[in-house]
Amino acid sequence: MLRTTLSPFISTLQLKFKAPKFSITVRNVHTQCTPTVRQNTPTNPTPLFQLPPTSAYIHLPFCRKRCHYCDFPIVALGSSMNQSHDDDPRIVDYIELICREIKATRSDFDQCPPLETVFFGGGTPSLVPPRLVSLVLDTLKSKFGVCLNAEISMEMDPGTFTTDKLKGFMGLGVNRVSLGVQAFQEELLKSCGRAHGLKEVFEAIEIVKSCQVENWSMDLISSLPHQTPNMWTESLQLTVDANPNHVSVYDLQVEKDTKFAVLYTPGELPLPSESQSADFYKMASETLTGAGYDHYEISSYSKSGFKCQHNLTYWKNRSYYAFGLGSASYLNGLRFSRPRRMRDYKTYVANLENGLVLNQEKVNVDTKDRALDVVMLSLRTATGLDIKSFIQDFGASLAVSLCQAYKPYVESGHVLCLDEERKIMPAFEVNSLFIEEDKLEEKVAFIRLSDPEGFLLSNELISTAFGVISP
Ligand SMILES: C[S@@+](CC[C@H](N)C(=O)[O-])C[C@H]1O[C@@H](n2cnc3c(N)ncnc32)[C@H](O)[C@@H]1O
Repeated sequence: MLRTTLSPFISTLQLKFKAPKFSITVRNVHTQCTPTVRQNTPTNPTPLFQLPPTSAYIHLPFCRKRCHYCDFPIVALGSSMNQSHDDDPRIVDYIELICREIKATRSDFDQCPPLETVFFGGGTPSLVPPRLVSLVLDTLKSKFGVCLNAEISMEMDPGTFTTDKLKGFMGLGVNRVSLGVQAFQEELLKSCGRAHGLKEVFEAIEIVKSCQVENWSMDLISSLPHQTPNMWTESLQLTVDANPNHVSVYDLQVEKDTKFAVLYTPGELPLPSESQSADFYKMASETLTGAGYDHYEISSYSKSGFKCQHNLTYWKNRSYYAFGLGSASYLNGLRFSRPRRMRDYKTYVANLENGLVLNQEKVNVDTKDRALDVVMLSLRTATGLDIKSFIQDFGASLAVSLCQAYKPYVESGHVLCLDEERKIMPAFEVNSLFIEEDKLEEKVAFIRLSDPEGFLLSNELISTAFGVISP
């Protein structure tokens, strides 16, 4: 499954060519015509992606050690449990650097609205002392402004924070905690190379609860080596018992150059087969929706009112700032990834201060890429693709071609067409609408993937969209 929601390390290309994990059946889908994206389509006064950003991702890369599945740009501090990092020069220097990056960032927008979401991702941001996080927030406030009711999230790992530390973060305005639990079995935590055990997981949950953080999320990983269905059932049940308002469930991706890539081959023991991974996915969907969570995105579940506002920015293909090692921003239709190596990132910040970072270094997302991004990102969500706005941005003929390519999937129930009231339209009714542009626009308001079968086929459906949009 796609892993693009974890944090903004996405580039358009990475999104497109991520190997399908769950391509259960390969169909012969004909994309009869190969339309070009309409260039002079009437558009909204300001398309969403051109609006000034109201979200910022801040990458805090420090971890005690690297997990065996992780390929994120991190700095392993090599320290033991609960060791304080308050004065670690590596952290102090990095915070200074990231503040310089924020200050040196040029805002090319006429208006600069205050930030509505800030996301501290990592790495393990909870290793950074509150007084240093405060410097980053102060810099953001003076540069862009931060709304009073902004969602400010922080990824936190068990064993890296105490009640006092969490209270310290909350005092700065952090109001959403994302707890990296991953598994509830000691042996799995160990084999993942996690720097904490099960005791710290339960302690962390207790700390979050005792601090009355209402908006908190838990991360779990399925398809881990040696993970059995019983273990997965237990992890899901203990998650439900802990009662977070949000849960993210990621299917393991064996990334190049990680310890897992050396040890394991996808699909081979001790990793599950594709169909076992699909079963894990279905188990998560059944258990969590059964416990009152809304499966609002491929990997995300939330109780009512607790969707992650920050991640919704990505899925709506809206612009966002990003600061820090290896992070990727999307501003004014340009995607830009910062260097992943600290030395290079330092040079980048110095160049930025001297006006030497040029727009040419950024990837311009052209209209076709943008159409594909919109399809890929929106089909990840339960809301799905908004047909009217797609037609407005990219033209009715492209929308018709896409729907025609999806016809077999509408018939098989993987793709659902919804009317204005979000009622699912019967497949036989839909077929005739896929031929005429006017009828399509008039009757079909959204297309979305069914849960779980359609979500499981998302990579295949995105490849199909790729064949239509960028043949
Ligand atoms: C940026 S990481 C968070 C880092 C955080 N310090 C931690 O490990 O708990 C966000 C989440 O991505 C998931 N993740 C990271 N690498 C993954 C991989 N290779 N496959 C699947 N999920 C992964 C984990 O659930 C992790 O909590």
